Amino acid sequence: MAASLGNLTGKVALITGASSGIGAATAVLFSKLGASVALTGRKSENLQQVGSQCEQAVGKKVQAGNCKPLLLVGDLSKEEDTKLVLDETIKQYGKLNILVNCAGVIEFGSIENTSLEQYDRVFNINVRSIYHLTMLAVPHLVETKGSIVNVSSVNGIRSFPGVLAYNMSKSAIDQFTRCVALELAPKQVRVNSVNPGVVVTELQKRGGLTDDAYAKFLERSKETHALGRPGQPEEVARAIAFMASDDSSFVTGASIPVDGGRHAMCPR
Ligand SMILES: NC(=O)c1ccc[n+]([C@@H]2O[C@H](COP(=O)([O-])OP(=O)(O)OC[C@H]3O[C@@H](n4cnc5c(N)ncnc54)[C@H](OP(=O)(O)O)[C@@H]3O)[C@@H](O)[C@H]2O)c1
Repeated sequence: MAASLGNLTGKVALITGASSGIGAATAVLFSKLGASVALTGRKSENLQQVGSQCEQAVGKKVQAGNCKPLLLVGDLSKEEDTKLVLDETIKQYGKLNILVNCAGVIEFGSIENTSLEQYDRVFNINVRSIYHLTMLAVPHLVETKGSIVNVSSVNGIRSFPGVLAYNMSKSAIDQFTRCVALELAPKQVRVNSVNPGVVVTELQKRGGLTDDAYAKFLERSKETHALGRPGQPEEVARAIAFMASDDSSFVTGASIPVDGGRHAMCPR
């Protein structure tokens, strides 16, 4: 059992979406906690920056087995890239203890103005790539009795108008989490989700919000989250580290809100 909370010493973790936001914060925290990390994203420059932050975070306190981050540039909507990411991780480290499925996109659209192209874009990365990478990773996670953490959303457990494909994709991930948790429980592999509320990252702006609209969205988050503010990537990273580590050894199939209480709210 781990000597201190969230100790990941000796663990190998593959983190998708590590070039930005929640995935980047998770990469840095996992490095601090002693994990050897394989990081993937599309933007090479950003990935390199996060890799350097991981090295700085470890600093002089390099623990046994904690290696330089492995940086893997790839587009997870391409099957060959997904396969390469997993293969290179195993080639480098020889094992996999933790898979964090964090990469994701948001697009705005309702049933009146969405398109099948939008549905495909959102589902390809938010659902299909997770299905594929997890399929490939499972034999290695079974060997280590490892752990999977999926980054879902409050949109997976609550319904909001105007982000239809995104909402549906996150519900699918929560169902995926529970089903795979039951399938792998006999092999002692745990599978959980974290469900963030609004977290300050690039996600919504990349989904199409202007700077002005994003500023208003964050302002409104003070009302839409019980704690009166949006979250920070590091706050989600800490929940991911808990779910990934042996500290949550009796938790599987759970979707844990990390959303300032938003999931419990009801308009009145
Ligand atoms: N921020 C929020 O308010 C919020 C709330 C709930 C849930 N989430 C979830 O948290 C996760 C992380 O989002 P974030 O907020 O950290 O957003 P972000 O800053 O935009 O980061 C998204 C990450 O996903 C990667 N990604 C996107 N499409 C990809 C593709 N086709 N192939 C490979 N990588 C891809 C991006 O890589 P590149 O940048 O290199 O392209 C980036 O590293 C997502 O699943 C999101 O749905 C976020």
